[in-house]
Amino acid sequence: MDAMAFVQELETFKTERLTPIVGAGRTSLADGAPGDAKKMLQVALANEISVSELAAAWMPSTTEIEVKLAFARQAGDEAGHFQLVAERLSALGFDVAGFRTPGESPLFQYLKGLSTTVERIAAGLFTLESIAYAVNENFMTFCDRRGDAETVRIYREYIQPDERAHQELGHRLLAKYATTPELQHAARNAVAKVLEIAAAARTQAAQRMGTACFPGC
Ligand SMILES: [Fe+2]
Ligand SMILES: [Fe+2]
Repeated sequence: MDAMAFVQELETFKTERLTPIVGAGRTSLADGAPGDAKKMLQVALANEISVSELAAAWMPSTTEIEVKLAFARQAGDEAGHFQLVAERLSALGFDVAGFRTPGESPLFQYLKGLSTTVERIAAGLFTLESIAYAVNENFMTFCDRRGDAETVRIYREYIQPDERAHQELGHRLLAKYATTPELQHAARNAVAKVLEIAAAARTQAAQRMGTACFPGC
């Protein structure tokens, strides 16, 4: 299949699988499920640093220069998000100095194990960033309802435009590199796997936290 047509089809596949993940957050919002904004921002902190580390880990072994640079820039962007969320948490009275990098989750274990450029683009920029953007929108609605306009502003003005850009870059790079049936097969598998692991992990976390509208990366 032509790479452009393939990526378009993969977008549809991704959107379908994203619906239950995003929908769970919406249900939480509709239920008025309780949620602790500080706890949720700590989830964001863990996600942002994990994605920053992932992109940085992929960078040296990615030979295509524009993809290497995409990972480098993403690592920086996610570090910036970590800092923004950390500052917000400090303002809310949480001692960020005590924050420790989380242990590797099944999702990041899987992602770190990906060795080809196409799988990395498909799993990371293309899929993980779409999940992040979608769940952050729910989180912003949650914050808005609690009257936390400052957190909403930080996401609206700084974090979400970056997550959107990462996702669009993933789309563009995939259309450039997923050019053979084998590469397209690998890309589709990576997308499906990330969505599957993320859905399971978010369901578990939602049970633990009593809500599903916590943020992503
Ligand atoms: Fe991101
Ligand atoms: Fe981020």
